[in-house]
Amino acid sequence: MKKTKVLFVCLGNICRSPTADGVFQKLVDDAGLSEAIVVDSAGTSGWHIGTPPDSRTIEAAESRNYQLGHLRGRKAIAEDFEVFDYILAMDEDNLSALEKLKPVDYAGHLGLFLDFGRQSTYREVPDPYYGEANGFNFVLDLVEDACAGLLKHIRSS
Ligand code: 4NP
Repeated sequence: MKKTKVLFVCLGNICRSPTADGVFQKLVDDAGLSEAIVVDSAGTSGWHIGTPPDSRTIEAAESRNYQLGHLRGRKAIAEDFEVFDYILAMDEDNLSALEKLKPVDYAGHLGLFLDFGRQSTYREVPDPYYGEANGFNFVLDLVEDACAGLLKHIRSS
């Protein structure tokens, strides 16, 4: 069976995209689809290559039973378009950076992650890095919603 490969992308790869990575991985595991769906995350910057997620991100995720401590930052590269069927950006800036990397013949889905969400207010996941502590829980709220929509979409396609 061909695997479906999903890459979540933000700016630093230490807050939003690792959150989406961990939340979606758990959803996939709980659905018994670990062999069918591959999950990864990356940043459009190379600022945090090799580092674990931000400690505030890890703590907020742990409070909802998601483990992110094993993840390490990496930069999104053009070769990701040869590997991933879905490349999902957390905000418009991330999406613009990815559009520049995208080969003309990419046949997969490049777009905003929250397009898979059922809430309609937010199109972008707000960057929590310089904000207040509650921003990390809000990221989780948006990410959990869009991950559920994404899994439903993948299962039905
Ligand atoms: P992320 O958040 O893109 O959700 O990982 C950020 C993390 C780090 C920085 C900016 C945003 N930074 O400026 O280092």
